[in-house]
Amino acid sequence: MTTSVAAFHDQAASFVSERVRQSPSAVLALPTGSSPVGMYRELVRRVRDGVLDLSRTVCFNLDEYLGLGPDHPQSYAQYMQHHLFGHVRVGRHHIPDGLAADPDAEARRYEERIVEAGGFDLAILGLGPNGHIGFNEPGSPPDSRTRVVELSPATRRANSRFFGSVELVPRRAITVGIGTILEAREILLLAIGQGKERVLRAALEGPVTAQVPASFLQRHPRVTVLVTPDLARRAGIGQHVSL
Ligand code: GLP
Repeated sequence: MTTSVAAFHDQAASFVSERVRQSPSAVLALPTGSSPVGMYRELVRRVRDGVLDLSRTVCFNLDEYLGLGPDHPQSYAQYMQHHLFGHVRVGRHHIPDGLAADPDAEARRYEERIVEAGGFDLAILGLGPNGHIGFNEPGSPPDSRTRVVELSPATRRANSRFFGSVELVPRRAITVGIGTILEAREILLLAIGQGKERVLRAALEGPVTAQVPASFLQRHPRVTVLVTPDLARRAGIGQHVSL
């Protein structure tokens, strides 16, 4: 890990810590993937050092693979246990049930729980190499709600690195919708990783289009984009961008 990448994780954790200090019972939308791993590590460290308290936050994960139970090593339930919930106490945490007998009903219930919690105070997002946020793949409408989605071949290929083979990557998932995300009072987008320069530029500066779901963030009044120095240079943009 280079110093600059360490600084990126630190800044992401500082951003979240600051918001939680201002609002200890904040409702947070949480991402998975490789982008936020360092941020979670840093948040755990801060809680252990006694400088951060997450025990009143309400956490909602953005997505979960369908067909994977919480004990499956690649489920996002397992990911969250491993990176955050297994180490620190949060107030409540929710994640869609990947084994729900009726996935559509599970998605509707999840959306209702978000509404009952009062919506997200802060939605923290990663950026998929194809421009997805959560598992809102290209073509997702801006007013979409939590629902069952088909994963695109590009996403299944990209995520096959965690599964060993693309065949083992589930074909469907439940994701919080773009409309639900855009209703968050604030959004933090974490941009880190190889091969994302074009999609990042398209998301921030290109036309707002369902072909690049992250471009809908341009419609939100309070978005901060945190970019690693390396990616910022390759994409020709600044490291902190406020949309
Ligand atoms: C997965 C998650 C997304 C995440 C994306 C980014 O597909 N479902 O929510 O944003 O990964 O991947 P990474 O951070 O590994 O580049």
